[in-house]
Amino acid sequence: MTTKSQAVLDWIDERFPLTSTIKGHLTEYYAPKNFNFWYFFGSLALLVLVIQIVTGIFLVMHYKPDASLNAAGVPVAFASVEYIMRDVPGGWLIRYMHSTGASAFFIVVYLHMFRGLIYGSYRKPRELIWIFGTLIFLALMAEAFMGYLLPWGQMSFWGAQVIVNLFSAIPVIGPDLSVVIRGDFVVSDATLNRFFSFHVIAVPLILIGLVAAHIVALHEVGSNNPDGVEIKKKKGADGHPLDGIPFHPYYTVKDIVGVVGFLIVFSLIVFFAPEGGGYFLEFNNFIPADPLKTPPHIAPVWYFTPFYSILRAVTYPLFGIDAKFWGVVAMGAAVVIIAFLPWLDRSPVKSIRYKGGLYKAILAVFIVSFFILGYLGVLPPTPGRTIVSQICSVIYFGFFLLMPWYSKIDKCKPVPDRVTG
Ligand code: HEM
Repeated sequence: MTTKSQAVLDWIDERFPLTSTIKGHLTEYYAPKNFNFWYFFGSLALLVLVIQIVTGIFLVMHYKPDASLNAAGVPVAFASVEYIMRDVPGGWLIRYMHSTGASAFFIVVYLHMFRGLIYGSYRKPRELIWIFGTLIFLALMAEAFMGYLLPWGQMSFWGAQVIVNLFSAIPVIGPDLSVVIRGDFVVSDATLNRFFSFHVIAVPLILIGLVAAHIVALHEVGSNNPDGVEIKKKKGADGHPLDGIPFHPYYTVKDIVGVVGFLIVFSLIVFFAPEGGGYFLEFNNFIPADPLKTPPHIAPVWYFTPFYSILRAVTYPLFGIDAKFWGVVAMGAAVVIIAFLPWLDRSPVKSIRYKGGLYKAILAVFIVSFFILGYLGVLPPTPGRTIVSQICSVIYFGFFLLMPWYSKIDKCKPVPDRVTG
C-alpha cells in the first residue's frame, strides 16, 4: 500500500473500525478447512437477498398497487406488471429475476437448513444462529406470501383469500383479526396497499436485521463443519485453530465457485423457463384477479406446499373448535418446532458422519415424507390423498418430537479429535 493510501486508511481507522472489521470478519476470521459444497448456500442466500432487493427497487419504480379497473377494464396493478413486461426497457428481465429469485431463495434456504440439520450446526453453542435462522424462514414466508398478491392475478387474489380466511377460524379474535389483516371484509384494494407496504419495506427491514444478527452470532462462536468437531479446541502456537484457515482469501474464492454455478442455473431459468413449469409462476396468475370467479383449484406456490398439506391434513374438530383452526395451529407448529431442534437432539455427536443407522433411517423417512407433503399440497385433495398427508404429517412431527428418544439410543461412531479431509 502506498504511503498516501495508508494515510487515508489510518484517518478512517481513527474514526471507524474498518481495518479491524475486515480482519475480524474476513482475513483473520478462521473457518474450518473442511467446508464442502453444502457451505455454499449461506453466501448464496446472501446473494439472492441482494438480487431481490435490487430488482425489487427497480420494479417499484413502475409497479402500481391499485386494484381499481383501468379504461380497458383491467386492474391497474395487473396492467402495471404487464407494462413492466412489455414496455419498460429490460423490465421483463428485472421481473423474471425477481420472480425466479423468490423460488431460488427458498431452494437455497431449504438446502442451507438441510446442511444445518445433517451436520448438527444448530447444537450448542450455535442455538441462537439457528433461532435467528428460523425467524428468517418465517419472515421469508411472510415476504413471499405478501409479494405474491401484488401482480393481482387470479392466484394472487384467491390464494390470499384462502390464507387470510384461515385466521378467521381462531376462536374469539379470529373474525376481527382477518378484517384487520385485509383492511376490509374481503381481499381488496386496501389489502393490496398494506401487503405492498409490508412487502416493500417492513419485512425486508426485518429480514436484513435478522440476517445481520444471524451472521454476528455465527462469527461470535465460529462455524461448525462436516465433522461437527469444534476447531477452537485445538489451537497452534500462534493462537489460531490448527484446523482453521482465514475466510479471505480461501473461502471468498471458494464461494465465487458456488456463485458462478448458481448464476448459470439461475440464468438458464430466467432466460429459458421463467414460469418453472407453472411452479415458479402459476399459469392462473396470468389471468387478472376476478372476485366473482373462483378458480377450480387454488394451490399455493411450491415452497409453501409441504406446510399447506399439513394444514389440510387436519380434518377433525377438537374441543368444539373447527378443524380449520387446528389446521392453522398444526401448520404454525410445523415451522415453530424447527426452532427447538437444538434441545430435541440429544445425540452425543453432531454430524451425520458419526451418527448411527437409526438416525439415518429416520432422517430418510422424514425427507421422503416432506417431499410427499410438498407434492400433495399442489394437488386438489381426495380422501386417499388426505390419508397419505395425515400419515406424512405424523411422520413430520414424529421426527422432531421423538428425537430426544431416538437420538439418544442411536449407536454413534467415535468422533475424531481433528477434522478429517
Ligand atoms: C436469508 C436467509 C439466510 C441467509 C442470508 C443466511 C446466511 C448465512 C451465512 C452467510 C452463513 C455462513 C456460511 C454458511 O455456513 O453457509 C450461515 C450459517 C448458518 N445458517 Fe444461515 N442464512 C439464512 C437462513 C438460515 C435459516 C433459515 C437457517 C435455519 C433455520 C439458518 C441456519 C444457519 C446455521 C445453523 C449456520 C451455521 C452453519 C455452520 O456453522 O455449520 N440460516 N447463514
